[in-house]
Amino acid sequence: MRFEGKIAIVTGASRGIGRGIAIRLAREGAKVIVNHRASKEQAEEVVRTIREAGGEAYEMQADVSDFQQAQQLINGVKKQFGRIDILVNNAGTTRDTLLLLMKEEDWDLVIKTNLKSTFNCSKAAVRWMVKQRYGRIINITSVIGLSGQAGQTNYAASKAGIIGFTKSLAKELGSRNITVNAVAPGFVPTALTEVLSDEIKQAILESTPLGRFGTPEDIAAAVAFLASDEAGFITGQVLSVDGGAVMQ
Ligand SMILES: NC(=O)c1ccc[n+]([C@@H]2O[C@H](COP(=O)([O-])OP(=O)(O)OC[C@H]3O[C@@H](n4cnc5c(N)ncnc54)[C@H](OP(=O)(O)O)[C@@H]3O)[C@@H](O)[C@H]2O)c1
Repeated sequence: MRFEGKIAIVTGASRGIGRGIAIRLAREGAKVIVNHRASKEQAEEVVRTIREAGGEAYEMQADVSDFQQAQQLINGVKKQFGRIDILVNNAGTTRDTLLLLMKEEDWDLVIKTNLKSTFNCSKAAVRWMVKQRYGRIINITSVIGLSGQAGQTNYAASKAGIIGFTKSLAKELGSRNITVNAVAPGFVPTALTEVLSDEIKQAILESTPLGRFGTPEDIAAAVAFLASDEAGFITGQVLSVDGGAVMQ
C-alpha cells in the first residue's frame, strides 16, 4: 500500500478522470477527499465505491474556482485530518467556440475553473506542506495546452497556464521536499468530451498511435506514480498520457 497514512485531496472527483484518480489513490491506502461543486449524489457514489472496496473516502463540496471556498476546503481537511500529503488539481470545464464567437463569460469561466482553482487550492495546501516538509501536487493539464486546438483558445490558455504554474511552483518548493508535476491527458470519453461530434472523435482516434481512447484508469495510474515515493526525484514535469497523440 504505497499511500498508507497519506491524506489526498482530489478536486472535481465526482465523475470522469477525478473519480478514477480518487478510486486509485484510495485503493493504494490513501484517505481521499472527494471534492465536487454541484454533483453531491455522484460524489457520494464515488465515496461508496471506495468504502465498499475497503478504502477510506469523504465527500466535500466546494467550488474550488472561488478563493474563499478553496481555502475553506483545504484548511478544513488540514484541521480534520492533521495533514495534507497529496493534492490533485483536477476540476475542469470547457466552453468551446471560435474566438470570434467567444463571449467574455466563456473565457472567464474556463480560466477561473481550470487555472484559478489550481492557484487557489495550491496556495492553501502549500502552507501546510511546507510545514510538513512533504507534499505532492499533481495538476491535470491537457495535451491541448501543448498543441493548441481551434475552438479552444480559452481551454488551451488555461491548460498552458497550468504548465507554467507547475514549473514555477516546482522551482519554489523543491528545497522543501515538495514535488509539483502535471499530467496531460489525451482524449478520455467523459461528460466533458461527450459534446464533441463523432467526426472529431474519429479524427482523434486516427491520430493516436496506440489506436484507442484513454480511460480514467490510464490517467490515474500516472497520477499515482507521480504521487508515490518512487517519483521523489521528479518535479516540474509534464507527463502526457495520450496514446502518443501529441509527441513533444
Ligand atoms: N476528458 C478528457 O478527454 C480530458 C482530456 C484532457 C484533460 N482533461 C482534464 O481532466 C480533468 C477532468 O476532466 P473530465 O473529463 O473528468 O471532466 P468531467 O467528467 O466533466 O468532470 C469534471 C469534474 O470537475 C468538477 N468541477 C467542475 N467545476 C468545479 C468547481 N468549480 N469546483 C469543484 N469541482 C468542479 C465536476 O463536478 P461538478 O459537476 O460538481 O461541478 C466534475 O467532478 C479536467 O481538468 C479536464 O480539463 C480531460
